[in-house]
Amino acid sequence: MIKQFLWKRAKIAFGFLNTYIRKKGRKYDNTKWWDASFYTEGVSDRQTISQKKSIITAKYHYASMELQILKHLRNNGIHINQSNIMDIGSGSGHWIDFYNSIEPLKITGMDISLLSFNFLKKKYSKNDSIEIHQGKALEVIGKLNNDYDLVNAVGVMFHIVEDSEWENTINAIGNILKKRWDIYYRRSFWLHRWLKCANRQRWPH
Ligand SMILES: C[S@@+](CC[C@H](N)C(=O)[O-])C[C@H]1O[C@@H](n2cnc3c(N)ncnc32)[C@H](O)[C@@H]1O
Repeated sequence: MIKQFLWKRAKIAFGFLNTYIRKKGRKYDNTKWWDASFYTEGVSDRQTISQKKSIITAKYHYASMELQILKHLRNNGIHINQSNIMDIGSGSGHWIDFYNSIEPLKITGMDISLLSFNFLKKKYSKNDSIEIHQGKALEVIGKLNNDYDLVNAVGVMFHIVEDSEWENTINAIGNILKKRWDIYYRRSFWLHRWLKCANRQRWPH
């Protein structure tokens, strides 16, 4: 744990040094990076975390995230069967499978990566209740003419590095949600809007 803590700080310091002092490195281009540098060894649950992650670590990550979501659903009496669900940055489709097992009405998945999109298209080609799109979340949401009960985005929002794009994406999500929303935020992962928030402008804390 201490090693992990120190490693994280070192990485942040290195990033700061390269970005602001040495001014070295290339600008992150989210339309190319995922296909050119990330999914180079295929698309799978493990790969969506890192090429080097062990299967046990990947399973642990997904199991603990599922637990958090299920706990939130159960503790707040939220029923999502027969819901219209959107999953942003679907990767290998772990969250599509997760929500699909809760008998939704429809799931819309999307990913900026073409490799992921092709993988998901094939994976769900026989399932009429799952549709997959390719592109930036903000652009895809703009083209969809639907209302959703729940929007899921695990491990995605912190990859949107332009502040205005991030804000516009959050607002676009707010606009496609059927009811008022809240964001369930845990560390760098935000998961859902919930129905109960009285104030639509509430931000994650
Ligand atoms: C760390 S992976 C997480 C994948 C999946 N949500 C999961 O938890 O298994 C991040 C995913 O988000 C996608 N992504 C990154 N930026 C995106 C954007 N602006 N719009 C849509 N997808 C994006 C990447 O291609 C990648 O598949």
